[in-house]
This record gives sequence, C-alpha cells and structure tokens, in this order.
Amino acid sequence: MENTNAKGLSHGKIILMGEHAVVYGEPSIALPFPAVEVAVTIAPAEDATIIDCSYYSGIATEMPEILQSLQTAINTALKSLNKENTPLAIQISSTIPPERGMGSSAAVSVAVTRAIYNYFNEELDYDRLLELVDVSEKVAHGNPSGLDAVTTSGDSPVFFRKGHPFVPFDLRLDGYLIVGDTGITGQTKAAVGSIAARLKTEKKVQTEKEIRLLGDLAEQAKQYLETNQPERLGTVMSQAHNLLAELGVSSDELNHLVGAAKQAGALGAKLTGGGRGGCMIALAASEQEAQTISQALQDAGAVKTWITYLNQAVTV
Ligand code: PMV
Repeated sequence: MENTNAKGLSHGKIILMGEHAVVYGEPSIALPFPAVEVAVTIAPAEDATIIDCSYYSGIATEMPEILQSLQTAINTALKSLNKENTPLAIQISSTIPPERGMGSSAAVSVAVTRAIYNYFNEELDYDRLLELVDVSEKVAHGNPSGLDAVTTSGDSPVFFRKGHPFVPFDLRLDGYLIVGDTGITGQTKAAVGSIAARLKTEKKVQTEKEIRLLGDLAEQAKQYLETNQPERLGTVMSQAHNLLAELGVSSDELNHLVGAAKQAGALGAKLTGGGRGGCMIALAASEQEAQTISQALQDAGAVKTWITYLNQAVTV
C-alpha cells in the first residue's frame, strides 16, 4: 500500500575550510546548513509523472536540460525499487539558492529519493541513500566527492579527505557563522580548472605550496572547532581566504564582502565553495556581533544573509 502523502526533506551545506585543496587530497570541513532546506511531497498521478518546482511545472519526461540531475534522481530511485512505471505527482520546494555552493543539487536529490522511498513505504538506509544520490550528482558535477550528499542529508559536520571515509565530528564552538550571498552564481568548474591550469605554469611550486597550506589550515580549524577557540578559527579562515584569492578563485564581490565582514568585527571571513561568485562566510563571537556583521554585509551588497550558531552542545 502506498503512502499517498509522502514527504522527503534535506537541507543546505557550507564548506567551512579546504575547498579546492580537497581536490588535491587535502582535508576539508563541511557543515550541514539547516537554515536553507528542500521539502518534497509525492502523491499519486493519473498517467504520467509530473513535476512542480520553481523552474518547471509539467510532465517529467519534458523537463528542461537544467533539471537533468533531478530527472536522474527520480529515475534512479524508482529503478532501485522496480517502480519505473508508477506515475507520481512530485512537488519540490526549496529555499536553497542554486549554484551558490550550498549543495542545492544534492539536497534536491536527497529529498526526492527520501520522498520516493517514503511513498512506497520502503526502508532507505543511509549508505543506500548516498549510493543513489551519487548517480545524479555525477550528472550535476561530473566527479563529485560525495561531500554534498553527506552534509545535505546528515546532521553532523564532517571532516573529509579524498579516498578516506567521511569523519563526523562534534562542534563545540561558541561562535556564530554568518553566510553572505553575493547574488552571483558561483563558477566551481571554471575555478577548479583554473587551479589545474596554474599547476602547469611557472607558478606550479607556489600553487602546490598554497594547496598544502590550505590543507594545514583545515586541520587546524577542526581542532579549534572541537576545542572552542573562535579567535583562532577566525584567523585560519581569513588566512584561507587570502590563499584562495591568491590562487585566483575569489572575485571582487567576494573580496568586498569579506572585507566588510572583517571591518564590522568578524573574527575571520572567507569565500565558501567553488568561488568566483556564490557565498562567503564570516565568524562572530556573539549573536549581537553576528547581527552587526550580517547588516554590514547587506549594506555592502549581499543579496541575502543567514546566521547560524555553531555549538551543537547547546540548543537555541
Ligand atoms: O561550490 P561547491 O560547494 O560545489 O564546492 C566546490 C568545492 C571544490 O573543492 C572547489 C570542488 C570539489 O569538487 O571539491
């Protein structure tokens, strides 16, 4: 018997440290970001699967190219249950801005997969979820690390190094993270490509050194997160931003917002994710300071800001 009122949920993610360096085997840290989320509901449909989301409303087989990874997520989940021919009415609502490094594509795939399993009243264990989402993430990103799928579906921060298992860890930091959106879509692929190209120039040795330094800073950040050292975390965040800018993956808008956050009293600030657009993050010691920084970011041109408390030991 089907659950005709099925639901699936997921949330956004933020890379705290280690973006780009992670491509070259260095560690990275990513956090679930529940301030933005995806909710999917599924009901039975008459004769064809239909989709209702902000980009498209209509028959699933006629979805635009841009929704190819969603199409793949639906097909992959249905196939895994041998239910390819069941018509469904799939409604997707998301507050995750797309292409801002917040894991929008993975989050949609996670929520859709969960909703489809919920519709058929089938158990979905975690490894299976990640395996299924990986198929559509390959369509969205080519060669995904899996970090987005883990952080948009789970509740724990993760420490990740390519080729190693994800290591969940506890946040024990009395600090607030402010996220500022430049309003400009990020260019992860171009930014990743530009570092690869830089490694083929006379800047090779310097680039390798910068990548290693980014990895060292991510290692240090994990320690500061676990031992409640916000000032030190802020310092390594700002150092990471400078290295990422040096590597050529920042932008004027990101640099401007990072500067504005620091001017407004942030302990540290940096771009997050692929860069060249997308979002930046800043660290504040108190909620009041976080509000001040958030306002300063908006005054400096951020189209949206979010504030999140980093200490999981305390519920707010
Ligand atoms: O922009 P996002 O959130 O998809 O993050 C990209 C992170 C990179 O390290 C730049 C690339 C990658 O595949 O890890």
